[in-house]
Amino acid sequence: MDERVLQAKAWIEKHLKSSPSIGLILGSGLGVLANEITDPVKLDYADIPGFPESTVAGHEGRLIIGELEGKTVVAMQGRFHYYEGHDMSTIVLPVRVMQAIGVEKLIVTNAAGGVNEAYQPGDLMIINDHINWFGTNPLIGPNAGGVRFPDMSKAYSPELIAIAQQTAEELDIRSQNGVYVGNTGPAYETPAEVRMMRIIGGDAVGMSTVPEVIAARHAELDVLGVSCISNMAAGILDQPLTHDEVIETTEQVKADFLRFIKAIIKKIN
Ligand code: 6GU
Repeated sequence: MDERVLQAKAWIEKHLKSSPSIGLILGSGLGVLANEITDPVKLDYADIPGFPESTVAGHEGRLIIGELEGKTVVAMQGRFHYYEGHDMSTIVLPVRVMQAIGVEKLIVTNAAGGVNEAYQPGDLMIINDHINWFGTNPLIGPNAGGVRFPDMSKAYSPELIAIAQQTAEELDIRSQNGVYVGNTGPAYETPAEVRMMRIIGGDAVGMSTVPEVIAARHAELDVLGVSCISNMAAGILDQPLTHDEVIETTEQVKADFLRFIKAIIKKIN
């Protein structure tokens, strides 16, 4: 195992009562889910050996480990983004650490721009596949902890997708099923780039998730991805994009998002 992973694992495990089986990565404005965790152990990234500090406003930076819907979970309240200047190995470090402390299933969430014109801000999108548009890959370099050439043909677990779809129906939550395109950011896309994203098969676009999911599949975790469509991508509506809009929309769908993810966690295993 990678030295950084070993160090973080050893330090985190000193603080744990039981080992988590489900990992949660909580995107912009969606970190509130971690506040539902009972009997929580809260570990600031700044205190975890090998972890950098998170920098974006609206992103907190800590691991919260405890009970949610009868399962032991570890949640990342705030994640590391490529646009912050971290290298890919740092961005995926938490995923590797999660696997090292016992996680087998990973739920990755994000706020994303709608590229599919049938989408509306406030929709939740169950990710059925992704397009890596980062221009790099987190597995570049010496291989450790998995196969050299991981299969990505079912990057998002069909079983977890089915559970999520059924849950959305049961809870009467408006959900979509689509392809997430991951870009570096931090600039939002131009309208021409958004038209390209649509042509290449994208339904939503964001600045995260893809690296973590690649690392998770390398580590053989089952992955569920959920995007909160916080706004339409550039050029679809005649209005500029702002991070405030992203936060406002996630604020509005928070309640549904919480119900949705909690009900999914209850059904897992
Ligand atoms: Cl429109 N683009 C990207 N890259 N990330 C986003 C977004 C758009 N909306 C929320 N996050």
